[in-house]
Amino acid sequence: MSRKTILAIESSCDETALCLIEGSGIREFTIRAECIASQNSIHELYGGVVPELASREHLRNLPILLQAVLRNSGMSLSDLSTIAVTQGPGLKGCLMTGMNFAIGLSAALSIPLVGAHHIEGHVLSALMDNEWLEFPFLCLVVSGGHTELYHVTDVGRYALLARTIDDAAGEAFDKSASLLGFEYPGGAKLAALADSVQGTRFSFPRPMLKSSGLSYSGLKTAISQEVRRLGEQVQSPAIRAELAFAIQESIIEQLVRKTHEYSAQLQIETIAVVGGVAANQRLRATFQAHFSQVAFPEPRHATDNAGMIAYSALLRGCLGRPLPFPGCAKARWPLETLEDAE
Ligand code: KG4
Ligand code: ZN
Repeated sequence: MSRKTILAIESSCDETALCLIEGSGIREFTIRAECIASQNSIHELYGGVVPELASREHLRNLPILLQAVLRNSGMSLSDLSTIAVTQGPGLKGCLMTGMNFAIGLSAALSIPLVGAHHIEGHVLSALMDNEWLEFPFLCLVVSGGHTELYHVTDVGRYALLARTIDDAAGEAFDKSASLLGFEYPGGAKLAALADSVQGTRFSFPRPMLKSSGLSYSGLKTAISQEVRRLGEQVQSPAIRAELAFAIQESIIEQLVRKTHEYSAQLQIETIAVVGGVAANQRLRATFQAHFSQVAFPEPRHATDNAGMIAYSALLRGCLGRPLPFPGCAKARWPLETLEDAE
C-alpha cells in the first residue's frame, strides 16, 4: 500500500479542526500535526451553538489553521496527496464551509478529495488510539448530538443496536449543567464539580427501556423539579456538587447497563466508548470496572477533532474504499446507512 499524506478538515459543529496524517495502514501512521479552534466563548453567550456564527468562525479559522498545521509539521502544500473533509452529519452551513474550502484546495493542488463521516470518525478514533483493539467490538458513541451503540465488525460495517429516543448523553450533561447555572456547554464543568465529592443524598431516574432505546428526557424533568423544590438551597456549593454527582451517576449508569445488556446478548466483551462524553473520567472508570476490555480515544480525540477524520480517510483509502465526495453536505446521515454497511 502506497504512503498517503492526507489533510483532514472537520467543521461539522462549533470546532474548526485540521489534521495532517501520513501513513499506509491501520497501524502504520503518524499524525504530523493537529490544530483546533474552539468557539465556546462565542456560543456560550447564547446558551447553544448559533449556526450562522459558527459558519462565519469556520470561514475565518480555516486558512489560519491551514498555515498552523503546515508550520507545525514542517510540510508544504505540495507534500499533500489527498484532502478529506467531513460531509456530515452536522450543521449544514458549517459542513458546507469546510467542504468549500476543501474543494478549493483540492482543485488548486490537483489532488483527490474524499468525504468523511463524522460519526465513523468517532468510532474509528478508538482504533487509532488503542493498538490492541481489534474487530469485532461494541462501540458506544456518546456526544453532544448522538448516543448510539453499534456492533462494529469492520471499517464500514456498523450495525445499530440501540439509540437514544430523545436527548443525547452530552445534551443531557449540558442541559443538566444549565439547570445548575453553568454556561453552555456545561458538560465538562458539571463533571468537574461532580468529581469534587464522594457521594450524594440525591438520586435521579435511570430508565431502563425494554426496547433498543435510551432516554434522558425524564432525567431533565426530575432535575428541574428537584432544583425548584430546593429553591435557594441550590446556591449552596455542597448541594450543587451533590446534585452534579447524582446527575453524572444517572447518565453513566444508564449507558453502562444498556451496553451490558448487548454485551451479554452478543457475547462481546470488547467495548469502545467514543465521542465528547468519553472524555468523562468517571465514565471511564465505571466502564473499566464493568468490562474486561475497554478502549477510549485519548481525551483530545474524544471531543470533536480532525485526527479522527484524517485516520478514517486513511483507513478507507488503504482499503480501497474511500467515501465518495458527492459535493453535498448531509445534515442527517445515520452511520448504519453508509453504503458498505451490512
Ligand atoms: O463529540 P463532541 O465534541 O461533539 C459532538 O459531536 O457533539 O461532544 C460534545 C459533548 C458536549 O455535550 C459536551 O458537554 C460533552 O461532549 N462533554 C462532556 C465532557 N467533555 C465534553 N460531558 C461530560 N463530561 C466531560 N468531561
Ligand atoms: Zn462529534
